Amino acid sequence: WSQTAAKTDGVLAVGGVPLTDLVAEHGSPAYVLDEVDFRARAAAFREGFHDFDVFYAGKAFLCTTVARWVDEEGLHLDVCTGGELAVAERAGFPMQRVGFHGNNKSVAELERAVRLGVGRIIVDSFHEIERLTAVTADLGREVGVMVRVTAGVEAHTHEYIATAHEDQKFGFSITSGDALEAVRRVHSAPGLRLLGLHSHIGSQIFDTSGFEVAARRVLALHARVGEELGVQMPEMDLGGGFGIAYTTQDDPADPADLAAGMRAIVEHECRALGIERPALSIEPGRAVVGPSMCTVYSVGTVKPVRLDGGARRTYVSVDGGMSDNVRTALYDADYSCTVANRASDAPPVLARVVGKHCEAGDIVVKDEFLPGDVAPGDLVAVPATGAYCRSLASNYNHALRPPVIAVRDGVARVVVRRETEDDLLATDVGDR
Ligand code: LLP
Repeated sequence: WSQTAAKTDGVLAVGGVPLTDLVAEHGSPAYVLDEVDFRARAAAFREGFHDFDVFYAGKAFLCTTVARWVDEEGLHLDVCTGGELAVAERAGFPMQRVGFHGNNKSVAELERAVRLGVGRIIVDSFHEIERLTAVTADLGREVGVMVRVTAGVEAHTHEYIATAHEDQKFGFSITSGDALEAVRRVHSAPGLRLLGLHSHIGSQIFDTSGFEVAARRVLALHARVGEELGVQMPEMDLGGGFGIAYTTQDDPADPADLAAGMRAIVEHECRALGIERPALSIEPGRAVVGPSMCTVYSVGTVKPVRLDGGARRTYVSVDGGMSDNVRTALYDADYSCTVANRASDAPPVLARVVGKHCEAGDIVVKDEFLPGDVAPGDLVAVPATGAYCRSLASNYNHALRPPVIAVRDGVARVVVRRETEDDLLATDVGDR
């Protein structure tokens, strides 16, 4: 739960706003964003990593309000599509502090980024280096470039979100020699200013040894570039991916401890390699916004079923589902939940919180004990839905994506409004 979440007589309030009031005014489902918590986590990264630049990874969740908070908290911003760049632009985010990622940026996206003056573009393929060289030549502009490399680390996380082993789409392989060749090409391209290497090993990672191995390999390449090309690259980015607690089983590290670990490795390796320490940056997304949001749903139906062996499970259907949180279906993610509108003394039952979509995998919370009297009309709140829930939300079954409501000091304000059927139908132009 975010830090201002508290229950009084069974009613959950976030940012001083009881969720019962919030739903009465704004309806459900809704994402509830705790501003104090978001800013505190951003500040913890800024302070813990005081000698790094901290890029907030907007892919986890981005809207103009959050982009402004990120700016106000002194963080930089990582975007990975023209759409995310558009949000940054609309928010007036300082473009010098924006990094632009992606393994298949279009010419139009690159042009826009260069025109807007983004601080750095992280290149991911030889095709992109060619494309970006042409774009800067056409525009008569220069842009800072980082080269994303594959550190060859097996991150212990879900296969779909691990990104540093060889057999996946991101980065230039260090072992094949592609990474060194990419650095050489960026260095010799006229409009590209080589800043350094970039490594991101995956997401929702708890075992920090992966970051350490990656840092060592990337620093070794950094040193090799110095020796073979005579180029001292000023920067290095070690990516994001720090895990958060979704249930009480998880035990995430503190940003200051993460920073201390990274700093120690980098300083040790730089001494061993006899090189100067490059300016470092990181890119956390989930660890900043994940715990800051929860989702509140209304219960519509409750259905006990008998399992093999005679045990029972209670299916609690809520008014959202995989369209607002696909992570359970997609990554087999674990979430927890609580009844948010009242206290209950009823003995707990094993419940599964499911959505309203037309498939059996439409599960929000796989297993949770809820009061046995949970009933239609109750509110169920799911914590830690800030990262990759709204940003991965869909209109599956023509669902309307829920609003994001920021709460603080007893005040709730809509920062992303609920979609309407008119929004949905606006793109359906028929066969006129
Ligand atoms: N930097 C790069 C280059 C990335 O690709 C990512 C995440 C991040 C930073 C931020 O990672 P974070 O600190 O948020 O873990 N949809 C998946 C996660 C995909 C992560 C994609 N890249 C999920 O819901 O678990």
